[in-house]
Amino acid sequence: MCGIVGFVGESHAKERIVDGLKRLEYRGYDSAGIALPIGGKIQIRKHVGEIRNLEQIIADDNFDAPMGIGHTRWATHGAPSDVNAHPHGNQDDSIAIVHNGIIENYQEIREWLAREYGVQFKSETDSEVIAHLISIYYDGDLLSAVNKAVEDMRGAYAVCAIAADEPDRIVAVRKDAPLVAGIGRGCNFIASDIPALLKYVREVYFIENNETVVLTRDDITIYNEKGNRVNREVFHVSWDADAAEKEGYDHFMIKEIHEQPKGIRETLLRRVDEEGRINLDGIAMTREGLESFNKVYIVACGTAYHAGLVGKSVIERLAKIPVEVDVASEFRYRDPFVDENTLFIAISQSGETLDTLAALREAKAKGARILSVVNVVGSSVARESDDVFYTWAGPEIAVASTKAYTTQLICMYLIALYMGQTKGVLLQKEYDRILNELRALPEKVEKILTQEEQLAFLAKKYHHKEHVFFIGRGLDCGVSYEGSLKLKEISYIHSFAIAAGELKHGTIALMDPDALVVALATQDSLYEKMVSNIVEVTARGARVIGLAKDGRNEIEQIADEAVYIPECADEVTPVLTVIPLQIFAYYVAKERGCNIDKPKNLAKSVTVE
Ligand code: G6P
Repeated sequence: MCGIVGFVGESHAKERIVDGLKRLEYRGYDSAGIALPIGGKIQIRKHVGEIRNLEQIIADDNFDAPMGIGHTRWATHGAPSDVNAHPHGNQDDSIAIVHNGIIENYQEIREWLAREYGVQFKSETDSEVIAHLISIYYDGDLLSAVNKAVEDMRGAYAVCAIAADEPDRIVAVRKDAPLVAGIGRGCNFIASDIPALLKYVREVYFIENNETVVLTRDDITIYNEKGNRVNREVFHVSWDADAAEKEGYDHFMIKEIHEQPKGIRETLLRRVDEEGRINLDGIAMTREGLESFNKVYIVACGTAYHAGLVGKSVIERLAKIPVEVDVASEFRYRDPFVDENTLFIAISQSGETLDTLAALREAKAKGARILSVVNVVGSSVARESDDVFYTWAGPEIAVASTKAYTTQLICMYLIALYMGQTKGVLLQKEYDRILNELRALPEKVEKILTQEEQLAFLAKKYHHKEHVFFIGRGLDCGVSYEGSLKLKEISYIHSFAIAAGELKHGTIALMDPDALVVALATQDSLYEKMVSNIVEVTARGARVIGLAKDGRNEIEQIADEAVYIPECADEVTPVLTVIPLQIFAYYVAKERGCNIDKPKNLAKSVTVE
């Protein structure tokens, strides 16, 4: 995720900024850069890859500046590269900016700047337009130029700007992206996140939405949208650096669980316009191409494979096309039937999983069209695909995948809706109904997150269990696999997921008073059948945690515990049902004293066979 650091003082801006950027490394980034006003000019240095690459190129520069801005980039618009890295300058680098967020109308602004002002763009980023906008409004006062530029911008942003002619102040502005100003002695700081500042300051001002802030060596002045000065209370940061990285959460996993409403919103926002049309920016697949497919393969590993299980159901239901789902390591060795009429969908958070990549290459060699669903822009899977559908989860740090899964699901729905509509097999009414259900999800996820305490209580009660079974039918079945994986990978409890209807063919032999069963009963059409399955296992003494939609209170009569998800259409339940399972797994692992973010024997990105 992008990070911003700005410093204004007497000297040593370069060292302070690089130091702050390093403290944001844990968030993931693909390039880094710095801009310093020196001798009446702004010097911009940036480099793809790690911060040490940047350090190498600036090591010999005699760059002692009193102020400057720096950035770590997590690519969104445009691949990771030197030119796409921030800071971005205007035409003659007399203005420089760093930006976190997205400028939604950047194409429009780009065209306008090129047409009216002959601006030639150096990068493929949305952010570069900000530097040029400020530049055309600049007449010696950076604050007023930034305020004017902001009026032209739509989207989410935290922006820091500097001007060569004003080498003593930084102007920053925010909307829907965090910004915090640090109060130093004889110097001041600005950053996207507190950890960047903690080595130097403990007193900060949180900048609110639509506020602009001007930092000089001695002052921090905050203005509201109307241009009036704001008196902000000083906040004293008492966390240590480690806690600050996790924004006060105990682990990255629980932080990332809480980031899911944002990730879902963002993934929808990037692909669905206000009229409900799915935009296919960056996707070259034509309507004819899409109509020529007679088969879809979804191939992935781990959690991404579980997203594929749900993807199969929704694509088959909404787009009426047969879908096979395979774990990548199996796909390669079973000589699958793939040809030019096959759509191959690879799902991968990291975009670097070797098995997924190898399966993709095999399908490509056989002529399939490759569409990938990936979180990391510019990753190998993304680069080798014909088309990419990005998830907008932001960097996922905990090994156990959570927000990547829910955003992968959103992509599955959007792909299914698009295919169904384009093929003419999905009625507009149905399309609208599902889209509305998707748009309502972030708020419903937020509601489930308020049940954290109840789930922590259940974890306390059941964390000593040796065997846990997850059962479900229909879409719940795929989610039960993910719930089971979450529990086993971080708590080391033996857990097993099975289609509830399959229980009677063997697994029911394991039901006894020691067993815990997590029964997912969120599908209206299959609810009665799930009730029978729950009764079957409780009759053998197993304890049951039942999951159902709000209002299905009768589940309390048959299960030992009941957990509810908000009312929604059956088709979209997986996005909600998985949340209590993630939280439950997290608290069970916590009760058992496990290393939650880095479970034993596991890696975040598996680049070996
Ligand atoms: C590893 C991770 C899992 C992940 C899987 C696939 O096993 O621990 O969390 O689901 O790889 O990774 P990908 O990056 O391809 O989604």
